[in-house]
Amino acid sequence: MLDIEKVRADFPILKREVNGKPLVYLDNGASAQKPRVVIDAVTRAYSHEYANVHRGLHYLSNLATERYEGVRGIIQRFLHAGSEDEIVMTTGTTEGINLVAYGWAMPRFQAGDEIVLSVLEHHANIVPWHFLRERLGVVLKWVDVGPEGELDAQAVIDAIGQKTKLVAITQLSNVLGTQVDVKTICAAAREMGVATLVDGSQGSVHAPVDVQDIGCDFYPITGHKLYGPSGSGAIYIRDERLAEMRPFMGGGDMIREVSKEVVTYNEPPMKFEAGTPGIVQQIGLGVALEYLMDLGMENVALHERDLKEYTEKRLSGLNWLNIQGKSPDKAAIFSFTMNGAAHAHDISTVLDKKGIAVRAGHHCAQPLMAHLGVSATCRASFGLYNTRAEVDALVDGLELCHDLFG
Ligand code: ALA
Repeated sequence: MLDIEKVRADFPILKREVNGKPLVYLDNGASAQKPRVVIDAVTRAYSHEYANVHRGLHYLSNLATERYEGVRGIIQRFLHAGSEDEIVMTTGTTEGINLVAYGWAMPRFQAGDEIVLSVLEHHANIVPWHFLRERLGVVLKWVDVGPEGELDAQAVIDAIGQKTKLVAITQLSNVLGTQVDVKTICAAAREMGVATLVDGSQGSVHAPVDVQDIGCDFYPITGHKLYGPSGSGAIYIRDERLAEMRPFMGGGDMIREVSKEVVTYNEPPMKFEAGTPGIVQQIGLGVALEYLMDLGMENVALHERDLKEYTEKRLSGLNWLNIQGKSPDKAAIFSFTMNGAAHAHDISTVLDKKGIAVRAGHHCAQPLMAHLGVSATCRASFGLYNTRAEVDALVDGLELCHDLFG
């Protein structure tokens, strides 16, 4: 297990107060806080090691290139990819999925081809597929969740038909915490010759990931949820799929040669990294992933399981609280509404006065909100530095909300 007091001491922001109360940060699903090592790495890069990458012959450019390129191997290790050439650096999951939509799907799909999605998806794994629906006439096939917010892998597999070209599914719902059996889905899809994209934005944060074991073709991640800088990220793309992809954005290091008549492209993964990249953001991400690997993602998973079980126990006593999503192996993400007049925004405002940060709204998952029959929920999403005492603070805050609005 983690030494939680030691871990908390690594995160400077956790020492601050908000509204005169100690900060209780339960908005990790939206973005996680940064450990000192990441903050220091970003400061050091800008203070001592900064220049553009891949372009210069001078000392600082070579040093920055070495630091930046070194991150590819760290991401490979974190995701257990077979080769670092299968890692394309991005600004986050949204860019990763758009890269797949424009670079792989757009040139290959035709009207009537199908993409299978679940109602759990985040807009980042919906909107790029709507682009294909609008522009090409691709059909989106939706799979619903069950009463506890669980997604039946067989229901996803049953939705795959003759015309299905892609299954695009989250590994872990950012709203309900539902974990999806993506390994079973990817194995069945591959058997049928269908590509798979597993949205790893949340799944990569809460437990060890092995993309080869999952067996997916595409696995995007977002750095700012992984305790790294915002604007950092990557996507794993299996080598066969990389070879099928066309470049998405043009410029910078994605070219081999440009003339007035033609352009030739660099080899993957650089072929898909146009323009000056997020050099320092990626350097910070590399440090964040090393920090996580040093803690051990298995230990992070164990700690968060304990928090999840404790939270379930404490919230189950509040019979005026409607928890959305109760699948047994869910992660430590709790979305809820309250009986009576309190809107999610009211709850979040009262909690904020107590120094407790949660998110209220549709969580960029409006199809899921429609399925649940609510316009918004309040969400407490836990991270590796949260404690049982913070769960107790949340429960006290919710009881106050109930007294005020219930
Ligand atoms: N996707 C982020 C969330 O779930 C922003 O809050």
